[in-house]
Amino acid sequence: MKTRFSRRHFVGGAAAAVGALGLRPDSALAALRLPPPPPGVVPADPYDDLAKLASNENPHGPSEKMWASMDLARKYANRYGYPDGDIHEKIAEHHGMGTDNIIMNAGSGETLRVAGIAFLGHEEKVVGVEPTYTSVYRVASGIDADVIARPLLPDHTQDIDDLVRVTKRNYRDVGLVYVVNPNNPTGVIVPDEDIRHLLDNIPEDIPVLIDEAYHHFIRDPRYSSAVKYIKEGRKVLVTRTFSKIYGMAGLRLGYGIAPEEMIDQMRTYATGSVNALARWGAAAALEDPEYEKWIRDTTIALRDATMTELRGQGFEVIPSECNFFMVHTGRPASEVRAEFRRRDVAVGRDFPPMLDYLRVSIGTEDEMKRFMTAWNEIFPDGMTTTGRR
Ligand SMILES: Cc1ncc(COP(=O)(O)O)c(C=O)c1O
Repeated sequence: MKTRFSRRHFVGGAAAAVGALGLRPDSALAALRLPPPPPGVVPADPYDDLAKLASNENPHGPSEKMWASMDLARKYANRYGYPDGDIHEKIAEHHGMGTDNIIMNAGSGETLRVAGIAFLGHEEKVVGVEPTYTSVYRVASGIDADVIARPLLPDHTQDIDDLVRVTKRNYRDVGLVYVVNPNNPTGVIVPDEDIRHLLDNIPEDIPVLIDEAYHHFIRDPRYSSAVKYIKEGRKVLVTRTFSKIYGMAGLRLGYGIAPEEMIDQMRTYATGSVNALARWGAAAALEDPEYEKWIRDTTIALRDATMTELRGQGFEVIPSECNFFMVHTGRPASEVRAEFRRRDVAVGRDFPPMLDYLRVSIGTEDEMKRFMTAWNEIFPDGMTTTGRR
């Protein structure tokens, strides 16, 4: 089938293209009219060419089993009410909790937003560290609540004693304590004994949000999920996501686990907008432990090899339990990022105040090789080109 252009459309389109590309009006290249590609030829996409090491995604995406499950769910794409693979029940069962303890959202980012709105009143405060994942802080700013963001310790761990002190000092005004474990962007865990210390030492009516987005990558035995504290009857909300280990960042499914009263409070503000494919993909993910293990092992192997290579060149790399790590660049990370971008490698944004550290997500083996090649070009003499701290 031929596509027919009117002369007006054709001229307008050509003029627009010339302008957009910055070509001269008499450019032979701009005047070229090639036939459209035959079916099956995928057009080159600059997005595909980029090594995507900026957003802590899973570069492999969902497993075959997950895709098969989503394929079966195609028939629900046009429905409002449909069988949903019992995903809500499966998540509850996975954690040994009831369905009333679970709230599902379009990504855990939405769970964080809903929690911020539900637990922070006007001019109330959220207590946490900086740098960390800022979603809750952004919600707080949007609703005229305050953020008390405390610095990390010199070894990049979260200062739990400090969080306890600040929470007690501001007791009347604190609506929420937020702990990302392991922390993003550093990749550093909060050991279980510190989480218990926090819960034991702040007033028990203050809700504590523990964001476990990277739970599945952790191997440090000092870590343990905080779900057990919900079972102990504490006012704890744990958030999890299918975006990372299960590769569903674009499909969007995350959830919160909490005592029933907290879930009820949050439900008022949630949209419940989880799509049919995400529900079925997630239900299959929970029954695919081999894939989960493969993703974890591959990610950790690539992460550790890259970190070892950087350390071998004299760079400080913060020990990470996540699908990303932070390396000390010794000069503004923004400059280094721009140099990577010129080489078609996207790396993490700035995380004030750690402006001379670069966050690098773990991609495919090929992407990590491209990262290292670019790194060697940007720092040809190892750490000596940056000046030691
Ligand atoms: C710590 C943390 N929490 C939550 C999220 C949100 O993830 P999602 O909305 O895809 O579940 C992210 C995403 O990078 C994150 O790093």
